[in-house]
Amino acid sequence: MRPTIVWAGGAERDLRELPAPLRRDELVKGVGHWEVELGFGKGRYLVRRAGEHRQLRFLGVEVASQYYRLARDRASEKGLTNLALIRGEAIYLMAAVLGAGWAEAVHVYFPDPWPKGRHQKRRLFDPLTVDLPLGLLRPGGSLYFASDFLDYGAAVRELLAAHPAVDLEIVDQLWPDGARTNYEAKFVTEGRPIIRLIARRRLTHEVALLHPAGRAGIIAAAKEVEPEPGSDGA
Ligand SMILES: C[S@@+](CC[C@H](N)C(=O)[O-])C[C@H]1O[C@@H](n2cnc3c(N)ncnc32)[C@H](O)[C@@H]1O
Repeated sequence: MRPTIVWAGGAERDLRELPAPLRRDELVKGVGHWEVELGFGKGRYLVRRAGEHRQLRFLGVEVASQYYRLARDRASEKGLTNLALIRGEAIYLMAAVLGAGWAEAVHVYFPDPWPKGRHQKRRLFDPLTVDLPLGLLRPGGSLYFASDFLDYGAAVRELLAAHPAVDLEIVDQLWPDGARTNYEAKFVTEGRPIIRLIARRRLTHEVALLHPAGRAGIIAAAKEVEPEPGSDGA
């Protein structure tokens, strides 16, 4: 597996060289709220937003090296010190590295839909993965989502509507600040329909976060490894 690269404050390091667990507050010092973008592509939105809100702190995760480098170079040119970028796989990083409950906003725009059934477990929004992006949010924080892949968008809408830890808003027009990412700008120009959602994490769900369908999947998986009645497990 390729090493996960972390860029912050002009320096680039292999994640394995950094103290574990990762201390975000050392990557980007300050007191500003955190925002995270998963699958930032060429970084149009993340770099622009970090430049416009220097008092906030930003973290981006992107698996494609070419896009990661493009965004890193743009951020360097702008001298951004309030942004950290990780070239790595978002599901692994959320599950193993990033910790929970600290972001004011999580942005996910036009995530890969993985349309084939056997690939769906790679989706960022699936009953078994949805708690990871939502888990980054602190109570009261918001997840922003957009997709032109209408089947996937509808599945994410249903998933979030059924989630006990969030209140869902369906956004039926362009964001107030216009098209945010490269994909969005292209699709808006083409007049393609887009599903946009905002899920706000409820204040009442401070810790427990488990989608009912995820829970059902975990129980089913656990049953598969239950010992046979009468077996002593030897
Ligand atoms: C369709 S593009 C959208 C890019 C950008 N968000 C936009 O709207 O222009 C999806 C992006 O997500 C990245 N990506 C897909 N799966 C990922 C994962 N598991 N972890 C991190 N990035 C991922 C891809 O490399 C790609 O840049």
